[in-house]
Amino acid sequence: MNNSENKAANYAIIGFGKIGQALAKAFARNGIKVSVATTRNPQSFASASAAIGPEIIATTLAEAIKANVIFLAVRFESHPDVAKALPTWQGKTIVDVTNAYGVPPEKMGGLPSAKFVAQAFSGGKLVKGFNHLGAAILEQDPAVNGGRRVVFLASDDDVAAAEIGKLAENLGFAPVKLGGLAEGGLLVQAHGNTWGKLIFQDLIKFA
Ligand SMILES: NC(=O)c1ccc[n+]([C@@H]2O[C@H](COP(=O)([O-])OP(=O)(O)OC[C@H]3O[C@@H](n4cnc5c(N)ncnc54)[C@H](OP(=O)(O)O)[C@@H]3O)[C@@H](O)[C@H]2O)c1
Repeated sequence: MNNSENKAANYAIIGFGKIGQALAKAFARNGIKVSVATTRNPQSFASASAAIGPEIIATTLAEAIKANVIFLAVRFESHPDVAKALPTWQGKTIVDVTNAYGVPPEKMGGLPSAKFVAQAFSGGKLVKGFNHLGAAILEQDPAVNGGRRVVFLASDDDVAAAEIGKLAENLGFAPVKLGGLAEGGLLVQAHGNTWGKLIFQDLIKFA
């Protein structure tokens, strides 16, 4: 095993359901290594991850969160359990792919859902994104009709937004930055029984 194989992947996806697998396919398509973890023993989904590609490494949650960039692809209700895995998320960038559809706004203290999630991952930098399309679309090659499928990103941290924007480009998408969580985040959030205006908008960027 060489050094790069020994090193924990720089990227991780927590949750390996419909959205976690759609994201994993984008990493595999572009030859980028990523760890994937759930609550289960990684052996139970190792064959599913290997079927996507050799870049997808089934591992434990404790191992996966050693990555610097962590995609949160669990149900909204499960995010506090993931957040408990570290006392501080300082130095980590969390990409919040959750949708809080059906969660009453009062359960989020009236906050935008991404701000509520950000509070749980204290010390971390949170970017809301990759959440506005269904998994069946997100898993497809984003090179479409000579353009690239758009993903929306919102963050209160410009450096983290730029970092995830670059990653989105490396994954083949066209990132569109929407600004802070309280402004842009609202356009791509599900909240109570409403969807933000950009949710389900399958846009392609040319050039
Ligand atoms: N499905 C879509 O089209 C879609 C589109 C956009 C956004 N989203 C959002 O993406 C998130 C995931 O949706 P999904 O449809 O992929 O859900 P899903 O198919 O139910 O998958 C959820 C995954 O999270 C894992 N998980 C649950 N609790 C966990 C924990 N505490 N730690 C680590 N892993 C945990 C589950 O594995 P185990 O329970 O086996 O551990 C499972 O692999 C949701 O917030 C959803 O709103 C979904």
